[in-house]
Amino acid sequence: MKVTVVGAGAVGATCADNIARKELCEELVLLDIKEGLAEGKAIDMMQTATLLGFDTKVTGSTNDYTKTAGSNVVVITSGIPRKPGMTREELIGINAGIVKGVTQNILKHSPDAIIIVISNPMDTMTYLALQSSGLPKNRIIGMGGILDSSRFKYYLSTVIGCTANDLQGVVIGGHGDTTMIPLARLATYQGTPVSNYLNAEKLQKVVADTMVGGATLTGLLGTSAWYAPGAAGAALVESIIRDEKKLFPCCVSLDGEYGQKDICLGVPVIIGKNGWEKIIDYKLNDEEQAAFNKSADAVRSMNGVLSTLTI
Ligand code: LAC
Repeated sequence: MKVTVVGAGAVGATCADNIARKELCEELVLLDIKEGLAEGKAIDMMQTATLLGFDTKVTGSTNDYTKTAGSNVVVITSGIPRKPGMTREELIGINAGIVKGVTQNILKHSPDAIIIVISNPMDTMTYLALQSSGLPKNRIIGMGGILDSSRFKYYLSTVIGCTANDLQGVVIGGHGDTTMIPLARLATYQGTPVSNYLNAEKLQKVVADTMVGGATLTGLLGTSAWYAPGAAGAALVESIIRDEKKLFPCCVSLDGEYGQKDICLGVPVIIGKNGWEKIIDYKLNDEEQAAFNKSADAVRSMNGVLSTLTI
């Protein structure tokens, strides 16, 4: 198996590091436009191989896509991250051109790859990758809901006072501060509703904290987060490569599911060797469906900006 991670910044390098540590593939290529950056990070990672005991061969490349040829899975993290006070949506002007170019270059050398999009604004970048590549929809997966769900479980665990690993919680909708929908009604602590353990006010605060989880970290770090986004990308790669059929909320192309079409938006999907294989219907109640429709409206208007850009 071969995996490429495009973008050797903090998210891309962390994702690659997780993939190597888990030995998800024999060959891992890290690619970046900045001269020497991917090579340097790849060598640094390889020098952890004997310390961590992995055999994945990691190599770096400065923008030479021939090195990525024959990749089974490609993770796109390229583009600029947000700075404190910025929304993910403000990145569209710069990142759209980058993501479109990267997708085309990747497919020249890896026509059968499954593509995971992490670049922001992620829902719109996933839609752009799908439209500009013409790939079957199952091979384009946007990484957002899996990260937001992990943040949701983290915040829940701090309030309930339990380990996050005993919690189930899913965030659907867009990957934006106002578009994501933590499904509080369906969150459980070992099979029991979380509402048994915290009152409505506390649960509402957990939901609000989750929605601005990325922005909170951007404020603290001065740039966007990387450990959880990188690990979330690697978890998707793992479910594809090992054909685990895990259920993750991901941004995928909808064709009537959840009442939406001609849009890529976060819904629960099964991830396996064919990419996203099936959408699971959570049977939203009216309030949740209304929030999902509102999220779709916001993402659709952001997608509309694509046609105004010269890319
Ligand atoms: C975040 C970025 C990766 O949520 O979107 O941290």
